[in-house]
Amino acid sequence: MSLKDAYRDLFPIGAAIAPMWAYKPEFDTLITSEFSSLTAENIMKPMMIMDHDATIASGDPVNTVQNFAETDKMLSWAKERGIRMRFHVLVWHGQTPWWFFKENWSDDKDAPDASPELMLKRMEAWIRDVMTHVNTSFPGVVYCWDVVNEAIEPEHGAPGLFRTKSPWYHILGEEFVPAAFRFARRYQAPDQQLYYNDFNSFQPDKQEAIIAVLKKLQAEDLVDGMGMQGHLQMQWPAIADFEKAARAYAALGLSLQVTELDIHCPTALENGQALLADRYGELFSTLVRMKRDGIDLRSVTFWGVTDRTSWLTGFRREGSSPMLFDDTLSPKAAYNAVIDAAR
Ligand code: G3I
Repeated sequence: MSLKDAYRDLFPIGAAIAPMWAYKPEFDTLITSEFSSLTAENIMKPMMIMDHDATIASGDPVNTVQNFAETDKMLSWAKERGIRMRFHVLVWHGQTPWWFFKENWSDDKDAPDASPELMLKRMEAWIRDVMTHVNTSFPGVVYCWDVVNEAIEPEHGAPGLFRTKSPWYHILGEEFVPAAFRFARRYQAPDQQLYYNDFNSFQPDKQEAIIAVLKKLQAEDLVDGMGMQGHLQMQWPAIADFEKAARAYAALGLSLQVTELDIHCPTALENGQALLADRYGELFSTLVRMKRDGIDLRSVTFWGVTDRTSWLTGFRREGSSPMLFDDTLSPKAAYNAVIDAAR
């Protein structure tokens, strides 16, 4: 029994992957047998696609020149294996090159920002290029888009709790969110869903601010789903709080996905792997119950595959053992707990 088979009648089970791991034969075998959805952990982010030199050379103030080599390789890899992908991400403050926001594509951080009018044109051109390319070259592979990621940050204290330290917000204000969704609606394929995606989306103040944004988008029929990232700790949040938030998003009439799931389990924690299994088990039992209650949960994606490939041990360099597979690619107790929750 694999994850994808255990959950076949419930929802697709996904993983975020990076080429340096995924294309190795042993990972290829594991991913293909266990998962029914994939997300590119980094290579489909704006910074990895926009080509600065070629954009400057083009002399065009609106259109970036894209390099889709890595994107195409992964879409083709997924297609060959019959696995569909979520596209992450079109509009985000992170991993978007700052020259994209400057006049004349300048790489001087002190150069003037592009005007709001120009930024809207650039946003449309970028979204149009990516969606058109992906849907023309690989029709049917991408089933949903993270259109806007992480627009809300209560710590910044702005009205509406918008993340002020985002060049998108800085130049366009909160209107950057509906603008991005309007363009995405214009260029999406008919069967694709558009998502707003964020972390800690179960925190009450953040949840309230996100719901206000979603309602505004829904008034124009611009959004289809809420992506709850799900980078969880061992004690926080209570799964009941995660469920409460998930039900509040679903009550808006939206689809739901858990898009970036990992549970930070410190390697030093005594009995850590048994506790991790309990926590994953509790979370998945809750998700299964919600699905059976009629919540439109469309997929659950782990943010990584093995402990060593997780961003927590890589990018964050934490002593953590958060995933379902260990460094020998063997399933851990948490894997069995997730399988059991589907029964
Ligand atoms: O590949 C380069 C390498 O060539 C270079 O030598 C090295 C030096 O720093 O950097 C490597 O790139 C790193 C990349 O991960 C691949 O490992 C980047 O520095 C690093 O910033 C990047 O981190 C990613 C992070 O997003 C950036 O914000 C993580 O892998 C990725 O897991 C993480 O994913 C985000 C989601 O997109 C949005 N939600 C939160 C989630 C976790 O932070």
